[in-house]
Amino acid sequence: MAESSASQATSRPLEDLDDWESVHHQGGERGENGQKSAFRDYRENVRAGVREFYQLNHRHQTLAFVLEKKREFLAKTRRSMGIWEAMEFLNTLVDDSDPDTDFSQIEHLMQTSEAIRAAGHPRWFVLTGLIHDLGKILCLYGEPQWAVVGDTFPVGCRYSDRIVFPEFFAENPDAAVPEYQARDGIYHEGCGLDQIHLSWGHDEYLYHVVKDYLPEEGLAMIRYHSFYAWHHENQYTHFMNEDDRKKLEWVRAFNPFDLYSKGHDRPDVDALTPYYKDLIAEFFPPRLSW
Ligand SMILES: [Fe+2]
Ligand SMILES: [Fe+2]
Repeated sequence: MAESSASQATSRPLEDLDDWESVHHQGGERGENGQKSAFRDYRENVRAGVREFYQLNHRHQTLAFVLEKKREFLAKTRRSMGIWEAMEFLNTLVDDSDPDTDFSQIEHLMQTSEAIRAAGHPRWFVLTGLIHDLGKILCLYGEPQWAVVGDTFPVGCRYSDRIVFPEFFAENPDAAVPEYQARDGIYHEGCGLDQIHLSWGHDEYLYHVVKDYLPEEGLAMIRYHSFYAWHHENQYTHFMNEDDRKKLEWVRAFNPFDLYSKGHDRPDVDALTPYYKDLIAEFFPPRLSW
């Protein structure tokens, strides 16, 4: 890799690409009102790299940045490949974390999908679990971690103080634009979440790659799984339309499999491969545009 270690430190503060999720492992289960019981605990407990990651993410994810990334990636002119090929491509992503104790990207994907399968959910749900993080191939295009993973949040309207590390938004140029800090910002009440620009990352990218092939329940899980301020903290509900109320239930049904299925048993990838290749072929064409 040609990058200097100094520039690596700023583009890769996370040792493991999933470390940002640690802020959600510490707050406890959702209570009756959808509120986490100990929302702010994460601050004392996260690694320095996670703080640094969110500082970069909140500073750089402006409305202009999101629109630029959508122009850059949503034309999907980079690659033509099938889902399995994309899984093997993502598997070439190597974190700085310990390779002996940590799981490969394909093992992570199968941990999620196998947990969904064991719970008896339908085949599209299992497949959604398998592929939901494939958008992380953005890292392999050279995108920095803060533009690939992390909690997503709306840009072009006021930041909720229930987003992790909200103090870092002071460093975002949009914080000084009054229009972007109004409650509704550039949007309007009830406009529907699909009108809202979320901070750019792997969720939105993969949604656009697969949107013609999965049922809308699975598409909502893929598109909004990192939007914790909404599905876990009940923020931005004033933008929801009727469809979004159903989507919220689906995204909430998916979240435990994303957060809590990882890091237990190592899936037998070779034994599971034929089952998953069949499942992929049931829903997807042999090649898709990425
Ligand atoms: Fe994800
Ligand atoms: Fe995930």
